[in-house]
Amino acid sequence: MTQQTILTGIRANEEPTLGNYLGAIVPMVTLQRKYADTYRINMFVPDLHSFTTPIDHDSLYHNTLQNLKYFIAAGLDISNSNTHIYRQSYISAHSELTWILDCFTYVGEMQRMTQFKDKSGEHNASITMGLMNYPVLMAADILLYDAEWVPVGEDQFQHLEITRDIATRFNNKFGDIFTVPYETRTQTSFIERDNGLRIRSLTDPTKKMSKSSSDEKSKILLTDTPTVAHKKIMSATTDSIGSVDFNWELQPGVTNLLQIASILSNTPQDEINAQWRGSDRYGDLKQSVADEVALFLEKFQKKLDTISETELLAALEASERSMNQQANAVLLKAQQAVGLRPKA
Ligand code: TRP
Repeated sequence: MTQQTILTGIRANEEPTLGNYLGAIVPMVTLQRKYADTYRINMFVPDLHSFTTPIDHDSLYHNTLQNLKYFIAAGLDISNSNTHIYRQSYISAHSELTWILDCFTYVGEMQRMTQFKDKSGEHNASITMGLMNYPVLMAADILLYDAEWVPVGEDQFQHLEITRDIATRFNNKFGDIFTVPYETRTQTSFIERDNGLRIRSLTDPTKKMSKSSSDEKSKILLTDTPTVAHKKIMSATTDSIGSVDFNWELQPGVTNLLQIASILSNTPQDEINAQWRGSDRYGDLKQSVADEVALFLEKFQKKLDTISETELLAALEASERSMNQQANAVLLKAQQAVGLRPKA
């Protein structure tokens, strides 16, 4: 039996926070450790997706590489022969298949997508075709590699379902061209993704820690110096209850700190909670978490410094060559189906 494929995207255009690190980067590294022996793993940077809403284009190319370095520093093994790391825009089949799929996708379907509705609300003066077409490009990302498994967060479930719809429609019309990924329900039971993990803002712990927040004190960036990060934790908002308890509703501030402590120290949450429950010494809790965060950043940044961009580029280019071949083979089947190429 041929190996099944797990495919997942690594966002390009953001300066990750500690929240992204713990909630997205680490889980992806864990996924590689767990599945690279038995599955093909495609981890790619959807750089074409990154300007469906306005960005700073001067930093896109650099950010793409920088983000990959964060994954490597977090433990992603780019030399693993079952893992394929590549940039979407370096494989032109993504754009070409998108066009073909566009002609079998209805405007109404795209207008119904929740993410499109949300984002076009925010940017309503300038909704681009790119924003609307986002899910079709995502479908091409998945279908070009015959990926059965696409572990995504809840916000992407709809895009996965529309991918299945488009692929099924195409197959019904033209025969067995695409591998249809499993339905969301099957996906989530296969790859347990901890959707509950949300690191909260340090200044307003009812919200999640967001890289786009203009309040610098609300977030810890992976580029913050350990000293700056330490200060941010020490000034984190807590509450006036005066007794530590792990309770997102009543005490989101201390609960957030307890959560960070558990993950960074690799200690089960229950154990951390038991250690601090009932304590009135919020300052001590902060001090301990701040030390932990500072130590983490120090080690992480040291590792980051050792990553060679030359080696990263060489690995990317090698895998992009082989992914181009694979993607072009699937693209050709679609081109033949619609009559752009002669049938074999
Ligand atoms: N839209 C995904 C996200 O925002 C990223 C992405 C793009 C993706 N193409 C993909 C994820 C294909 C999985 C498969 O997280």
